[in-house]
Order: sequence, then C-alpha cells, then structure tokens
Amino acid sequence: MVTSGTKTMGPSLELTEEHLMIQKAARDLAQNEIAPVAAEFDESGEFPFQTVQKMGEMGLMGIEVSEDYGGAGMDTIAYVLAMIEISKADAAHGAIMSVNNSLFCHAIERFGTEDQKERFVRPVASGEAIGAYSLTEPMSGSDAATMRSRATREGDAYTLNGRKSWVTNAPAADFILVFTMTDPSKGHKGITAFIVETDAQGYSRGKSEPKLGIRASATCEIIFEDYRCPAEQRLGEEGEGFKIAMAVLDAGRVGIAAQAIGIAEASYEASLQYAREREAFGKRIGEFQGIGFKLADMKTRLEASRLLTYSAALAKQASKTSGARFTLEASMAKLHASETAMFCAHQAVQIHAGVGYSKEFPVERYFRDAKITEIYEGTSEIQRLVISRQELALR
Ligand code: CAA
Repeated sequence: MVTSGTKTMGPSLELTEEHLMIQKAARDLAQNEIAPVAAEFDESGEFPFQTVQKMGEMGLMGIEVSEDYGGAGMDTIAYVLAMIEISKADAAHGAIMSVNNSLFCHAIERFGTEDQKERFVRPVASGEAIGAYSLTEPMSGSDAATMRSRATREGDAYTLNGRKSWVTNAPAADFILVFTMTDPSKGHKGITAFIVETDAQGYSRGKSEPKLGIRASATCEIIFEDYRCPAEQRLGEEGEGFKIAMAVLDAGRVGIAAQAIGIAEASYEASLQYAREREAFGKRIGEFQGIGFKLADMKTRLEASRLLTYSAALAKQASKTSGARFTLEASMAKLHASETAMFCAHQAVQIHAGVGYSKEFPVERYFRDAKITEIYEGTSEIQRLVISRQELALR
C-alpha cells in the first residue's frame, strides 16, 4: 500500500499481460516511427498527421473509451503506460494524444448523450478525427471562471460569440469542446459546455502560438462570430460547464503527469548513457560524484513521480464505478511529475554540457518541452492551491 501522511493512496500495482502488451506496442511505435521524426516536426512546428493517424489506428486516441464507441476499452493504467512511451519519444505527440483521450473523449463519454458519443467520440477514439478542449481565453487562464465569450439561446440553437486562446490541437481539430458563458450574472454557475464543429460557419482560427516547446502539437486561438450550435450539441445542462471543465481537467492532469514522466525518463536515460561513455580527466564522467549524485536525484524523483501517477490512475479508474473525485491524487501527480520533468531535463542539459545545448542532441528539446507541463492544464501554483484546499477541506 502506498500512503501519504493524511490519505490512503490506493493499492500497490501489478501490471497485467494487457498492460505489458499496450506498453510494448506504444514503445515500438514511439521508438520506430515517432522518435525518428520528432526533431523535424519540432523544427517545422507542423502537425504530424501521419504518425497521429498511426496512433489512432493502434487505438491510442481512445485507450479508455469503451469498445462500444470505437475505443480500446482499457483501463487508466494502460493509458498512463502508453502516454509515457509516446511522450518519451516526443512530448508533442504526447500532448496530442492526451487532449484526444482525456480532454475530449473522456469528457463526452462521461457527460454526453448516446447520440453525442456516437457522433463525436467514435471518430476521435478511432483516430479518424481530431478533438480539442477550449477553456482558456486571452483574459482568463488560471482564473478559468472569468470568461468573456458568450452563448445565447435562440430557439433550438445557441449563438456563440467570442475568442478562446491556447487551444491545443485546434489547427487540426474537427471537433472542439468549448466552455462559454450563458449567464454572466451567475459567475461559474453560468458557464455551459458545447461540442463545436470546426467546418461550420461562424467558426475561424486566430493566431497560431509560436511556442517554446511541444511545437508539433499545434496551438491557436479560435474565434466565434455568430456561430450557431444546435442545442443537442450542448454537453450537460446549462450552467454545468465549469464543473464539467474541472472534472475533465482532473482526468487531463493524470495524462500530463504521464507525459512529464516520459520527458523525465528520456532525459534520465540519455544522461545515464552519456555519463557511462563520456570521459574527462581520465575517467568516465559518471564516476565523478558531481554527475553521479545528479543521476541519483533524477532517478529518485522519477520513480516517486511514477508512483504518484500510478496512484492517481488507480483513483481515476476507481472513480468510474464509485463516482468519487480524484482531484487530490491528480493534482499531486501532475505537480510532482511536471517539476520532475523540468528538473531532469535541466540536469540532462547540464550533464551533456556543450552538446546538451545543441539541437544535434535531443536533450535540448526535452528541456524546452518539459516547461509546458508546469504550465498547461493548471500551473504548478494552481496545483498547490488545489492540493492545499483539498487538504484543508476548503472545497
Ligand atoms: N471536480 C468537480 N467540481 C469541481 C472541481 C473538480 N475538480 N473543482 C472545483 N469544482 C467545483 C466546486 O466544488 C465548486 O462547486 P460549487 O459552486 O457547487 O461549490 C465550483 O466548481 C467552483 O469551484 P471553486 O470555488 O474552487 O472555483 P475557483 O474559481 O476558486 O477556481 C481553480 C478553482 C482550481 C483555480 C480552477 O479555476 C482551476 O483549476 N484553474 C486552472 C484552469 C486550468 O487548468 N486551465 C488550463 C486549461 S486547458 C489547457 O491547458 C490547454 C489545452 O489545450 C491542453
């Protein structure tokens, strides 16, 4: 049993045959098809349609989605294992995978109608279409409830107006889960969720973000100008949007924790190999304590993150039957794993020194990619807020 000071964290983990199978399949695809093109797509910032399609064909875009809706029907541990493997090869592919699985498919499978699951989950889970999630606006990031975009009901449809920003996958997305205000007088209780089709009139894309890292996971603003969304594409009831957004982010944060572990593991393994091979002052550099102790800290933080993330995955899995929230577990896993990814990538550049600063070695990319895990789906400061509020029972 893995325990924290205050709460039981769930049973220890034994991987099943099915877990090992998806881990190996994801690893083979990641190392054979994704790793060789990662630097090229990082440089160009283009969306990697071909490899993403292969991920979809393998079931990696809807790992936890029921087979009834075109998914792989596996559990959350399977999702985490596959996310680690893909992100270890390229965190941008990990981001694309995470948004499709956790923020789009999971949201609609959990809160949607039968018709919505058939129309929107099936194509995304099977990799035929791309999904996205849009909460943030230019003037509201961490304070997610303060949004300016509006939806007004007119008969059997809503008219959407406004601008949303930082939408991962949006340049390639067919469908986007959008959160917007239907009744500003009610604050967060006035937010409603809609499934938007990107080929309809009134929808357009705004500026693309010229990002530091995960550059192949394209990100842009989206703009609504009298976009008409049929009422049957509302997810949940009017006013339920904020709670849906938060509950979905709990699931998303487990995926980002796994993505961060992938980056940390890649950084650690590259450093270990370099420390074994590179010589200075007549010794292999790993024999110097200055390098050896860095490796010890990287390994320890990496394994601690893995345990926290498995624990969050088990809590998420259990919530499918109990309905219990796993907010605390998800935030702790995301906080620790993202700070570990940044720590490990930072140490990896330092261990590699000059070549670590060069685009000829992948640790430079790991360093740039790691940073986003401390920012998106809730900054580290927001995770600390969520964790402390949960522990103090303030929410
Ligand atoms: N599950 C279910 N309900 C939840 C919840 C959760 N995890 N968290 C909060 N709620 C509920 C509360 O119980 C409360 O309900 P009542 O009104 O019935 O009491 C309601 O939501 C409001 O909660 P708070 O009072 O705690 O809300 P707040 O305004 O103080 O905000 C916050 C809380 C934690 C700061 C939240 O705003 C937050 O998580 N902010 C960060 C947003 C974020 O992660 N943005 C990233 C977006 S996605 C992205 O990164 C881009 C991408 O494409 C990947």
